Amino acid sequence: MSLADIRREYTLTGLSRSDLDPDPIAQFRKWFDQATGARTSGRVRKFFISLYKALLLAGGAEPMDLNAMTLATADKEGRPSARIVLLKGLDERGFVFFTNYESRKGHELVENPAAALVFYWAGQEREVTVAGPVAKLPPAESEAYFTSRPRGSRIAAWASRQSGVVANREALESEWKRYETEFSGKDVPLPPFWGGYVLQPSRIEFWQGRPNRLHDRFRYTRQAGNGWLIERLCP
Ligand SMILES: Cc1cc2nc3c(=O)[nH]c(=O)nc-3n(C[C@H](O)[C@H](O)[C@H](O)COP(=O)(O)O)c2cc1C
Repeated sequence: MSLADIRREYTLTGLSRSDLDPDPIAQFRKWFDQATGARTSGRVRKFFISLYKALLLAGGAEPMDLNAMTLATADKEGRPSARIVLLKGLDERGFVFFTNYESRKGHELVENPAAALVFYWAGQEREVTVAGPVAKLPPAESEAYFTSRPRGSRIAAWASRQSGVVANREALESEWKRYETEFSGKDVPLPPFWGGYVLQPSRIEFWQGRPNRLHDRFRYTRQAGNGWLIERLCP
């Protein structure tokens, strides 16, 4: 099949102004819970979500990483780069993810401390996009999360100079073993070059696929002072 022939109609549901929570973080949580099946509303939606999950399982597919998001950053010349990271926290400050501060994204966030995120939940025919300034999490919070990770992953954080060139797989594994020995019988501490960021949204958009590509799309824009402006956008 040619790429140009790959298309589908989006028919599950619509999104109207009255569906929206005045707080976009609460709206995000609602959609996230629906994507994970934590809180399904409506029998039709519930039916489609169950059907979708059954089809995934029948196809031998693993459950999707519903907290996976594309993170776009740019260097000081505005040249963009993007990659997937996992959403690991969400509160009134914004969207939290963890990474290596000396990775390509880490360097770009020093040069240009702003980013954009994209979530795509195919099962719900939904997209959420987020943009805003990014700041490092306080080290105590990074430490708390780091400590919660499996020991092997904590050792890997030390062993992998993320985004740097490595000669081969053996070199990577031997670094991992070196740190495993170094930390033998001890806690694996938080590397000074590793931790969290929080993206504070200045804009969040919610997109619901609709038939004939006439999708529903709402943008929340943070207002000076407090509150959010909500506008419907053309798809
Ligand atoms: C499903 C998935 C989840 C990922 N989660 C993370 C993450 O939470 N943090 C991270 O640093 N990299 C994560 N990665 C790897 C990144 O996509 C990327 O390869 C890495 O962060 C280096 O990016 P950079 O060189 O642009 O800085 C994930 C990749 C995938 C496919």
